[in-house]
Amino acid sequence: MDFKHFDPTALAPWSALQDSASAMASTRILDLFDDKRVEQCSLDCAGVSLDYSKNLVDKTVLEQLVALAEASPLAEHRAAMFAGESINVTEQRPVLHSALRSSADVLARRGTAELADPIQEQLDKMAALSGSIRDGSWTGATGKEITDVVNIGIGGSDLGPRMAYEALKEYSAADLNCHFIANVDGEPILSLLRRLDPETTLFVICSKTFTTQETLMNAHTAAKWLGDALSLNKPFSSPHFMGITSSPEAANALGIPNSRLLSFWDWVGGRYSLWSTIGFSVCVAVGMEHFRELLDGAATMDQHFIDAPLSQNMPVILALLGIWYGNFLGAESYAVIPYCERLKELPLYLQQLDMESNGKSVAIDGSPIEFDTGPIVWGTTGTNGQHSFFQLLHQGSHCVPVDFIGVVKDSMNQADHHRALLGNMLAQSAALMSGRQDDSLPAHRQYAGNRPSNTLLLDELTPYTLGALIALYEHKVFVQGSIWGINSFDQWGVELGKSMASELLADDCDTNALDASTRSLLQKTGLQNVKS
Ligand code: F6P
Repeated sequence: MDFKHFDPTALAPWSALQDSASAMASTRILDLFDDKRVEQCSLDCAGVSLDYSKNLVDKTVLEQLVALAEASPLAEHRAAMFAGESINVTEQRPVLHSALRSSADVLARRGTAELADPIQEQLDKMAALSGSIRDGSWTGATGKEITDVVNIGIGGSDLGPRMAYEALKEYSAADLNCHFIANVDGEPILSLLRRLDPETTLFVICSKTFTTQETLMNAHTAAKWLGDALSLNKPFSSPHFMGITSSPEAANALGIPNSRLLSFWDWVGGRYSLWSTIGFSVCVAVGMEHFRELLDGAATMDQHFIDAPLSQNMPVILALLGIWYGNFLGAESYAVIPYCERLKELPLYLQQLDMESNGKSVAIDGSPIEFDTGPIVWGTTGTNGQHSFFQLLHQGSHCVPVDFIGVVKDSMNQADHHRALLGNMLAQSAALMSGRQDDSLPAHRQYAGNRPSNTLLLDELTPYTLGALIALYEHKVFVQGSIWGINSFDQWGVELGKSMASELLADDCDTNALDASTRSLLQKTGLQNVKS
């Protein structure tokens, strides 16, 4: 594919949507309902359904949005991604996380047959290692079985496994605990270590690059604790450490042997790495069969994304609605509110997925972009959010579209709780749309309404539906990046802060080269005098 400059604002559908935005200013979502709207604005795939009828879009706007997608390089870009072309142009890498969840047949069909064997090899190794932890045959230095697995990683090497582990707790082995350590703040790791038994703990060091400051520092803290407790000279080489990385040499250099290393490839972006061996902790918790179901759910969503016509394509529709609000109706953010405590980590996970992918201000050819790109993503679980920020959603001055996410099946068998949970979700989306205008009430008790939302329902929270849900958002982000003409797969924006932190913490830091505020704060925090 030729990655030439693409400016969506020059397209006819973009101008048509600008006109529609003015025309829709006085339209009420409620007035758009006829007896077909709900059916026409509903899509299903892999146990996930989307009702997007509560959006400020009529048939014309939807057609214009689809026309925008058709006029963009989306179709060509999507084909290039699945075929393994180097669509991550600034790093000259293919983007093939979808291959990790595809069968050998599917890979062959997509022209990437050569990936099947290496992927299978890592899956087999993952199955064997996780199986030996689960069945007790993996023992620590003193011969005891592993009871606690600590995933040490950050960003994509943390958020995906952490979110999926939490979501799938009902599937987890009862006698194994997984913990997740990310922050360089010493508190999380120290308070966790206080509760762990070194003889039965396995640390899984997850880092694509194996150079990340936070991860290496936490790994060294864990190694020191373990070495001291079990009198081990080389704790990293003991059966209490594993590594997962695409830089095996760096893990070897630390002392982790190949037998306890899992790998993945540079064509798997960090925030897309849950499907790779980075998902190991989830695999240990739920078992390989369930991990496979997670991959299968995502693979079903991949195929839907490839096959479904744009107007019936769930990721495409979600993406287009986001573009409608962000580029034409002035929304700067969207909120994700899962009415399911098991999905409490999902908003954080989606923050990295969306904001690290599409938080860009230059086009794929490096030219500046003059319109808004990736939105701010935020949220927490319902009903908790109702008692904190929902005031702003209902009566604030910002337009914040909401994705409500609910699970139909009550896995806890707590009918009263579940009824209340889902009832609240439905009431909130209805209230946001309808508002309440009652002249007998004072202004502060009026609700303008007309606030849009999507409702995503999972039949049941299973590995399969979770996989489909995550892939849905991955492809949504991809579609938006394609239409905006940006590279969604690099993250150069995080580099400057990282390198400035190293410079500032270096013994030979030239403080005179720093700005006055930072120099003063160095003094106040005492950092200037603390040498490593
Ligand atoms: O700093 C951002 C980032 O590079 C993310 O993209 C990535 O997921 C995270 O850091 C962790 O990187 P690694 O897996 O290489 O430790």
